[in-house]
Amino acid sequence: MAKKVLVAYASKMGATADIAEVIGDELRNHGHDVDVLDVTTVKGIEPYDAVVVGSALYIRRWRKEAVRFLRHHVDELRARQVWLFHSGPVGPDKDQDETMPPAVRHLAHKIGATPAVTFPGRLERATAKGFLARRLAAGDLAGDSRDWVKVRAWAADISAALDATERSSWHRPVATPPAGNFLG
Ligand SMILES: Cc1cc2nc3c(=O)[nH]c(=O)nc-3n(C[C@H](O)[C@H](O)[C@H](O)COP(=O)(O)O)c2cc1C
Repeated sequence: MAKKVLVAYASKMGATADIAEVIGDELRNHGHDVDVLDVTTVKGIEPYDAVVVGSALYIRRWRKEAVRFLRHHVDELRARQVWLFHSGPVGPDKDQDETMPPAVRHLAHKIGATPAVTFPGRLERATAKGFLARRLAAGDLAGDSRDWVKVRAWAADISAALDATERSSWHRPVATPPAGNFLG
């Protein structure tokens, strides 16, 4: 059954925004009704059955607006299926998983979301913003490491999980997260 899904992202240089769009595209391919929005433009999450939230990583932190989004909507997110991702690793360590920053881990636990999946990022001269990013983009970290096969496969897994879950079982005020939704 088609679900209404929000993919909300926080991105500085555009790489995470593109990942969010591809997640949205894949979910649409699976028949879902999807909005892909910058977290700062989301009016509310009431219309959505499920929410995917992603942020770029900077100095091992999520962008502030993404953390604010999770904090602001924590109760509504708790009553929905939620998936988290972050994008960042570039260069030789592009395939290394990044742990969730403490603030995000804490919020994920409250929401009952599984740990964020890590997607490799992009750091290129043409899109780099800020002195440090431009400097790093001139070194051996430079490049577009985004893995579209991995991104689409993850979105397809989300679609399968959505198909397996009846909306009615999630839209209720829950005192404890539904079993199996949080691993840590
Ligand atoms: C100053 C700076 C710090 C960064 N810190 C991290 C980090 O801690 N972990 C990581 O995986 N990637 C880090 N990155 C890489 C970015 O997360 C990567 O370029 C990402 O794709 C940018 O996403 P955006 O284009 O959506 O802003 C850093 C990049 C810059 C420029």
